Amino acid sequence: MTILNASHIAEAAAFITSRTALKPQVGLILGSGLGVLGDHLSDAVTIPYEQIPHFPVSTVEGHAGELLIGTLSGRAVVLMRGRFHMYEGYGPELTSFPVRVMKAIGVGILVVTNAAGGIQTGYEPGDLMLISDHINLTGRNPLVGPNDNELGPRFPDMSEAYSRRLRVLAAQTAQKQGFSLREGVYIGVLGPSYETPAEIRMMRIMGADAVGMSTVAEVVAARHSGIEVLGISCISNMASGILDQPLSHQEVMETTEKVKTRFLGLVEEIIPL
Ligand code: 6GU
Repeated sequence: MTILNASHIAEAAAFITSRTALKPQVGLILGSGLGVLGDHLSDAVTIPYEQIPHFPVSTVEGHAGELLIGTLSGRAVVLMRGRFHMYEGYGPELTSFPVRVMKAIGVGILVVTNAAGGIQTGYEPGDLMLISDHINLTGRNPLVGPNDNELGPRFPDMSEAYSRRLRVLAAQTAQKQGFSLREGVYIGVLGPSYETPAEIRMMRIMGADAVGMSTVAEVVAARHSGIEVLGISCISNMASGILDQPLSHQEVMETTEKVKTRFLGLVEEIIPL
């Protein structure tokens, strides 16, 4: 059953639009460690999630839980610093509720980012991966329940969930900036436990290149809403069973710093979109 309906979406949207004169057409959802992009907005208004009607509150430590509206590279954007995960106990319709609200305030393009574990053996921590497609292994779908035809179709097409146009733009931008992006399939799982080595072997056979606990429900809702999607995974570590030994903390820190700089540069330059 849908817990949140069109009137909840409208209430949250009305609250947000009452707090800013900006009319963002681009939305961003920032994954773990990537929230720093929020510091790069100009003239931002910050709205803690708990102030927004019907917004869930993120329970993950280190996730700020705030919505920012400001300008980035001259474009009005709405940005989520902290997201909702199904492993926190939220249903998929709740984790994707902010996407519905973004749509209601005028967003037509969504940039979803996440930290993911590398499955593809050629990947290295610190790689950025354009998501070419996803596999939904969460066992959940935000569209289960009665369909609101005002929001989107009963059986939405997912044949190009991650926009080819935006992937080409991102790849060209990275090349211009002197680095290359990976491109691969993201497999979304429920979590919160990490995968076993056997599960990772299964996922590789299935065609997955990176694994994480977010993104798929948001993207399903975005496509249902007719939003164009760009997905970027930061490969923060290799998934279990791939490396003989865990990364050292020092290595992980260096990796995160390297990826952050590239990520910021990439998103800032592609944001005109
Ligand atoms: Cl290895 N697995 C999952 N499910 N999520 C992750 C991850 C791995 N690394 C970062 N996020």
